[in-house]
Amino acid sequence: MSTMYVAREPDATGFIDYPQADHAVWNTLITRQLKVIEGRACREYLDGIEKLNLPHDRIPQLSEINRVLEATTGWQVARVPALIPFQTFFELLASKRFPVATFIRSEEELDYLQEPDIFHEIFGHCPLLTNPWFAEFTHAYGKLGLAASKEQRVYLARLYWMTIEFGLMETPQGRKIYGGGILSSPKETVYSLSTAPTHQAFDPIEAMRTPYRIDILQPLYFVLPDLKRLFDLAHEDIMNMVQTATRLGLHAPRFAPKPEAA
Ligand SMILES: [Fe+2]
Repeated sequence: MSTMYVAREPDATGFIDYPQADHAVWNTLITRQLKVIEGRACREYLDGIEKLNLPHDRIPQLSEINRVLEATTGWQVARVPALIPFQTFFELLASKRFPVATFIRSEEELDYLQEPDIFHEIFGHCPLLTNPWFAEFTHAYGKLGLAASKEQRVYLARLYWMTIEFGLMETPQGRKIYGGGILSSPKETVYSLSTAPTHQAFDPIEAMRTPYRIDILQPLYFVLPDLKRLFDLAHEDIMNMVQTATRLGLHAPRFAPKPEAA
């Protein structure tokens, strides 16, 4: 995959000087999305939003995010280029560092882009990284991924996709969103809780067996009974589940194959 984006470099003090147009994109995105997630995001995520206290008028510096993560779960964000290999990704998670590419989408791609930008990483993922259960799962996941083979990593990637990126969960107030891929997308935030997609009770082996496409709204979402389920899963034998999922094989996709690029 090629990219049109380049992550911005910090100066000697670690400060990243984004152009005003980038701050304006952040402002548009956060203002709009804070309204859309109302009543749709899970409480734990909203608690994290409150703790992070993200600025609206400018892109936050990673050091500001780190102060909050450090004080809550001991996590950090790490600056990376736009695209990183699986190996680097797992190394970072295994050392409780969440990768953040320091670029923001262009005005033309406000609603949709395939590459995770700083809005996706910070607004989508960092709130729940203040939650000990979610943080523990993400850490355990990184350690497993680091030790896994190339083949096993593909199954782990699907588990990540169906939880950390696109997970839903039951709450006393009804079904809510915790996945960062959903919560950083206005369209998918509304669509995921509508009657259009299929909702299925979370099963890690089933999640690993479910193919996905990164460039469409998801046809199927897995629903956790509660967020603690991820913490419990972190202490189960996930690699054994990978083995079972590998033996059982992939489910037929619920979507058309991606058209070949011209
Ligand atoms: Fe993500």
